[in-house]
Amino acid sequence: MLILSIESSCDETSVAVTSERKVLSNIVATQIAEHRLYGGVVPEIASRRHTEAISGVCKAALSEAGVTFGDIDAVAVTFAPGLIGALLVGVNYAKGLSAALGVELIPVHHLRAHIAANYIDSDLKPPFLCLTVSGGNTIITEVKDYTSFNPIGGTADDAAGECFDKVARALGLSYPGGVTLDKIAAAPDDKAYPLPVPKTAGEYDFSFSGLKTAAVNLIHNYSQRGEEIDVAVLAGTLRHRVCGILTEKTLAAARALGYKTLALAGGVSANSELRQMLSDECKKSGVKLYLPELKYCGDNAAMVGVAGYYEYLSGNTATLDLNAAATMPIDYR
Ligand code: KG4
Repeated sequence: MLILSIESSCDETSVAVTSERKVLSNIVATQIAEHRLYGGVVPEIASRRHTEAISGVCKAALSEAGVTFGDIDAVAVTFAPGLIGALLVGVNYAKGLSAALGVELIPVHHLRAHIAANYIDSDLKPPFLCLTVSGGNTIITEVKDYTSFNPIGGTADDAAGECFDKVARALGLSYPGGVTLDKIAAAPDDKAYPLPVPKTAGEYDFSFSGLKTAAVNLIHNYSQRGEEIDVAVLAGTLRHRVCGILTEKTLAAARALGYKTLALAGGVSANSELRQMLSDECKKSGVKLYLPELKYCGDNAAMVGVAGYYEYLSGNTATLDLNAAATMPIDYR
């Protein structure tokens, strides 16, 4: 079964052709350079760029896969959550294609797609526990089956990616800050740069807004005093603290719930220390860890196609009245 999949939830326009878990093509047109001018994603610009790019990206995906529209059996599309104007571009394009080709339309939840990135070229099968960390979300989910999810913890405020991005911006690092912060981070120094330990009501919940504010205030205080901050060391200190919290809570959840298989997903899954820390701790605890390939960590349509395949098998298809939604829980259905 050949699926043509579309992703446009934020600042990447991506179209892929997939067959079950296999990726035949995955074209990603990123808007990062333009949003960098503003220090973050400008939603209005994102929507307009998706509209301009989507047709060309789709043609390139078909050509790279060596197939034509006539070979496509279904169209999968990210419909939620994300920037509403950006999502609507992909959803409407997908609706047009599904109507024109006379094939099924498959709505895909963005976080389910990130989790499905772990299925590409791997033998991972549910049930397992998954930590999903991106710019807008940080959740621990039981993946009971390919389309059955039970979130057991999430962030009470900011996502880990948001914390990285905003502190990186205060440090003068270029957008997307989390990526740059990871690249330049040096060994942590908690004494030089003391950061708070967030407290949460739920055992597997997160809170990153206090940590973000503390780090930004620290940067501003240094600047007001005319003192120079060691950008690499503060970056490393924040990264170490955030990765420590994510790793500790996820492994505690795995132990408590008896999971011996763990996966990492979302844009922040590209973080080098998080990958290393989770690998080390999983090894110590006898837990098998799955990490998405770096090229599938950020937003891409290949993961949408793979998630879409399982949604299709479970009967989750849509009609032409499908709408996009800015927010949607992972266990919506
Ligand atoms: O999943 P994603 O591509 O988009 C959504 O938020 O849905 O995640 C983007 C987030 C941004 O906050 C970005 O800074 C962060 O992932 N990110 C990283 C790294 N690569 C991407 N954060 C830390 N270290 C990285 N290497």
